[in-house]
Amino acid sequence: MLSLSEVLAARARIAPYVHETPVLVCQGLDRLLGKRLFLKGEHLQKTGSFKARGAMNAALLLKGARGLLALSSGNHAQGVAYAGRVLGLPVLVVMPEEASPLKKEAARAYGAQVVDRGVRYENREEVARLLQEETGFALIHPYDDPRVMAGQGTVGLELLAQAPFLEAVLVPVGGGGLASGVATVFKALSPTTRVLGVEPEGADDAKRSLEEGRIVRLAQAPRTRADGVRTLALGSLTFPVLKERLDGVLTVSEEAILEAERLLFTRTKQVVEPTGALPLAAVLEHGKRLPEVLGLVLSGGNRDFLP
Ligand SMILES: Cc1ncc(COP(=O)(O)O)c(C=O)c1O
Repeated sequence: MLSLSEVLAARARIAPYVHETPVLVCQGLDRLLGKRLFLKGEHLQKTGSFKARGAMNAALLLKGARGLLALSSGNHAQGVAYAGRVLGLPVLVVMPEEASPLKKEAARAYGAQVVDRGVRYENREEVARLLQEETGFALIHPYDDPRVMAGQGTVGLELLAQAPFLEAVLVPVGGGGLASGVATVFKALSPTTRVLGVEPEGADDAKRSLEEGRIVRLAQAPRTRADGVRTLALGSLTFPVLKERLDGVLTVSEEAILEAERLLFTRTKQVVEPTGALPLAAVLEHGKRLPEVLGLVLSGGNRDFLP
């Protein structure tokens, strides 16, 4: 089970390579929603998402790797590509054909080779394993890896230091790496702060998994504009952490995600991708059930620009 000391060690290890991201506040938004919101700006992180943290931590812990291999719907690919560039290692990333062209291009820009032909959300793990056998590169899983979970937890350490009075923290949940890390930090250091996951209605596997006490796997990739959380299931390592430390999961509609993106753009002037807007969408839809002082993890900003 992931421990606070692993997250603390990750923070020291990755500090030279990642940003301490700012916490933003917006009085207009607070007035509109009747809350005090503290927005953790991971869209301003290296590579445009928190994924640089876990990827960097995992890569720094490898010994004698010939190269790095990642499977990703986008942001983890950029994280691993960035880590490879820092460490001078070649990087292969397996991305679904339908993944965001911008995210593929960004991974290439960091020097990674993108493998996407015939790759779907459903078969990508198998493709990555075959490539691993062929190349001998070290596979860095996007969430089900204690090194990755510890790296993502450093978001929680920073947020707690920047806003030590939060009543609840809202975190997007895909495979659960970010939520595992953040929940581990808050349960250890600020146990009265509730940590809540957020996922789209059509991708409610985390909510169902925690309710049913077993990992519920979706039969196919959910259709949602939040492309970072199209994962089919929680991981075998993230699930037990979330079961013990997460206080619940909220689901949100596609309309609420779009409205949250719009508010982040118009009110706070921040470019946040749909997945990063999930926590604000949860405030829009479940505000009445939530406390007043909230931390929202804006987990990424890598969105396609559509004129
Ligand atoms: C922007 C963004 N937020 C949240 C997540 C979900 O992270 P996790 O899989 O660790 O739950 C992802 C995953 O790709 C992401 O890209």
